[in-house]
Amino acid sequence: MFLKKLSVLNFKNYPEAELSFSEQINCLTGNNGEGKTNILDAIHYLSFCKSFFNPIDSQNILHESPFFLIQGVFGMPDRDDEIYCGLKRNQKKQFKRNKKEYSRLADHIGLYPLVMISPADSELITEGSESRRRFIDSVIAQFDREYLENLISYNKVLSQRNALLKQFGDSRKFDKDSLDIWDIQLIEYGIKVHKCRQNFIERFVPIFQKYYELISGGREKVNILYSSHLNENSFADVLEKALNRDRAIEYTTVGIHKDDLEFTINEYPIKKFASQGQQKSFLIALKLAQFDYIKNIKQVTPILLLDDIYDKLDDLRVKQLMELVSGDNFGQLFITDTHPTRLSELFKSSSVDFKVFNIKNGAVGNGD
Ligand SMILES: Nc1ncnc2c1ncn2[C@@H]1O[C@H](COP(=O)(O)OP(=O)(O)OP(=O)(O)O)[C@@H](O)[C@H]1O
Ligand SMILES: [Mg+2]
Repeated sequence: MFLKKLSVLNFKNYPEAELSFSEQINCLTGNNGEGKTNILDAIHYLSFCKSFFNPIDSQNILHESPFFLIQGVFGMPDRDDEIYCGLKRNQKKQFKRNKKEYSRLADHIGLYPLVMISPADSELITEGSESRRRFIDSVIAQFDREYLENLISYNKVLSQRNALLKQFGDSRKFDKDSLDIWDIQLIEYGIKVHKCRQNFIERFVPIFQKYYELISGGREKVNILYSSHLNENSFADVLEKALNRDRAIEYTTVGIHKDDLEFTINEYPIKKFASQGQQKSFLIALKLAQFDYIKNIKQVTPILLLDDIYDKLDDLRVKQLMELVSGDNFGQLFITDTHPTRLSELFKSSSVDFKVFNIKNGAVGNGD
């Protein structure tokens, strides 16, 4: 599976553009603010029906224009698939595959797997635990629908339980029986989600460590630890112990909604003790492991988008990374760089097919 063609109309800073891609490597070069990342985002739309960066679709319409259109052709082993995504201001987004409109966008997601590596990934290290839970959830949900359903059910029960705790506080009454009704369900869904996350991390970490070693040349040891209230104790016990505190602050303080991932380098927390380049290498390894994981489970090689890859990485690490991603395990790549020739110099000496696009102020020229 690879993206053959992309055309956009009034998307972000592009009034109109058409690009035909290489099945292997596509380099998008240009100065800051010219529109390199915007092309990656249009490709992201074709896979996930939404922007990687901006959840408000209408803000991706070119300023002052009434609509945007993104169209793509994916080359499949036995056919071509045409994807259409259109948005008019103040209207519902239209999303079509081979001219047929989806009634549920969720049915599209996963058909054309894609992994984006972007400077915005740094929030996984710098932000709170929610961003790390979102990461782990998004990876598992790509291959396990039941997981997503359990998670949604858990969150529904959780908000009911919190509402009840609030009600107890407001009315100054407490009724253990009605709390138990929610607890039984919370425990049922919570245990399932916990088990899935635990199994996933166990299989994911060795893959992640392998990629980190390949990028860093084995200079540091990294790890990911899954922290959860449910790791050592039963959920029922944990809830019981927290009951007084939960009642006092009228909120459920324990459960899988508090899970976190601890990122370490040489056994110290990465946020405090890793250099910028080490943090960036860590995030890239995390995303490459996600790529590998999806590839193995779906038996389809995802498209890989690499935004601003020279940002914070030294030349040696970029070279190692480029050798890795242009190898047999990877498929189609899209890479952005502000330097006009640095990437093509790297690929020239290898046998891979690559294409360069020069991006200038929302217009695309061929770089060769
Ligand atoms: N809805 C929109 N309408 C018009 N222009 C927009 C819209 N959204 C974003 N832009 C413009 O797109 C440009 C940014 O494009 P993009 O992020 O692709 O740049 P880039 O080439 O990746 O730059 P950098 O090298 O700094 O990452 C900015 O000039 C921004 O103003
Ligand atoms: Mg950019």
